[in-house]
Amino acid sequence: MKHFLQIFDASRGELLNIIELALRFRRDGYIGNPLRGKVIALLFEKPSTRTRVSFSSAVLRLGGEVIYLPASELQLARGEPLKDTARVLNRYVDAIVARLASHSSLEVIAKYSEKPVINALTNLHHPCQALADVATMYEDAGGWGFKVSYIGDCGNVCRSLVQICALLGIQITVASPHKYWLPPDEIRLYKEVASSVGGSVEFTEDPEAAVVGSDFIYTDVFVSMGMESEYEARLREFLPRYRVSMKLFEKAKTGAKFMHCMPIRRGEEVEDEVVESDRSIIFLQAEYRMHTSAALLVSLLGGPS
Ligand code: CP
Repeated sequence: MKHFLQIFDASRGELLNIIELALRFRRDGYIGNPLRGKVIALLFEKPSTRTRVSFSSAVLRLGGEVIYLPASELQLARGEPLKDTARVLNRYVDAIVARLASHSSLEVIAKYSEKPVINALTNLHHPCQALADVATMYEDAGGWGFKVSYIGDCGNVCRSLVQICALLGIQITVASPHKYWLPPDEIRLYKEVASSVGGSVEFTEDPEAAVVGSDFIYTDVFVSMGMESEYEARLREFLPRYRVSMKLFEKAKTGAKFMHCMPIRRGEEVEDEVVESDRSIIFLQAEYRMHTSAALLVSLLGGPS
């Protein structure tokens, strides 16, 4: 793996190694300085709390340095081409972590970058989130063999979660209005990949059916960054059916947990009561953003010392 733009850029073995290292970082702490002398650029076009701070903290804990680059303060904002920006940054830094509105823009950066490029969220993918999600589930479940239900919008978070579940053979069922499902050719591919390693990928419009037998119920906002003009229309289509409620948990496994990538819009995609209940593992999930980011950087830039 040279760049990490989407989950499918990594092999099953690479993903498992990253998750194992992340679990080790959480259990044993950050020992040694595997990123000593490394400088990581965080190029962000959009706001962020978890991704920005977890990557920054991970780099510092690993002995490296971070340069935060809001895109609005670079010459990019005055029209300098991405391909020039990428080749210039390459002369200064050892990796670029980028949050961009357009996935194709990220692909341009990756094409012109000799240094690793990591996707910190685009319109299509959020692979770093999915790494943390699966590590969280593994820790909570005490191993593999769990089932996940994703309820709501099939955006970047859903796509990356489905990709990682497919590659790792985790059972996942997505419940969403049909018009929001991932494209049919993608669903077909993910089903094939999942079945080749003993997992399954299912799509349904019925959230109550989706959660049967689930260990984890996961949701995200119905209106992602950049889609604000669709706010009213989306709420009409998703509510009230796709809001995660305490009642929905009655259909899942007894001890099923609630997950959300955050930030949350309480009362829209999930009831506040669920978020604040002891089913919720959202803060462990947020913590894992740091451990999996650290493990990803070490796997791309050098081994633990
Ligand atoms: N989940 C997530 O990516 O959070 P931020 O937008 O705060 O980085």
